[in-house]
Amino acid sequence: MAHPDPEAFIRTHTALERPALVPELALWLAAEYLPIWQATEDWLEKNNVDPPYWAFCWPGGQAVARYLLDNPAAVAGKTVIDFAAGGGVATLAAMKAGARQGVGNDIDPMALAAIRLNAEANDVTVTTDGSDWLAGPAASPEAGIVIAGDVCYEREMTARAMTWLRGHAAAGRLVLLGDPGRNYFKAERLEEVARYQIPTSLQLENRGLRETTVWRVLA
Ligand SMILES: C[S@@+](CC[C@H](N)C(=O)[O-])C[C@H]1O[C@@H](n2cnc3c(N)ncnc32)[C@H](O)[C@@H]1O
Repeated sequence: MAHPDPEAFIRTHTALERPALVPELALWLAAEYLPIWQATEDWLEKNNVDPPYWAFCWPGGQAVARYLLDNPAAVAGKTVIDFAAGGGVATLAAMKAGARQGVGNDIDPMALAAIRLNAEANDVTVTTDGSDWLAGPAASPEAGIVIAGDVCYEREMTARAMTWLRGHAAAGRLVLLGDPGRNYFKAERLEEVARYQIPTSLQLENRGLRETTVWRVLA
């Protein structure tokens, strides 16, 4: 369920900031972890909605974004679909790098509102899609490239997402996954394409830097 006025909520509880690894982009981000959680707590509890993942720029998404900005040939003229896009950092980077179309997907309607606000702040056009892409490879839009950042933090989601990503790889698409070594990540049938040290919030990650890898997912 979305907040009754997602855009007003986002503008009130976040500020436009530039992620450490991707200063080319300005995103609506929560500077501190606690205030936004507290601000939303009552409403979240009452409506049983997810925590505001969209208010943070996770290392996995930042790494994919950095890679695309530095390697525009990977996306130039192509349709890029971003699974579990959160605030859409990698979708936006794909557009800045010259993609023909960027589609940001998330099951949280607040994330879709954040992606739209972030696109506006960076003067790019993106498409948002709240449907369940994990229903199968045919459930997602046509794509030239498939990207995902930081999706290996829950057991079931990781298993389903990896199966879905490998389905796209089997169909011959370039599939990129950014991951900082989350709990359920396994470095199997993957090829490293880039590695970054990403400054992170101590409150969120319990450390000041996260080494994060962009992997090419193999079938
Ligand atoms: C840790 S955040 C990563 C967001 C973004 N990729 C980044 O790196 O900043 C994970 C996101 O996955 C979304 N999510 C969880 N399960 C999903 C699903 N089955 N389909 C689409 N999005 C999902 C959450 O709503 C959340 O926005």
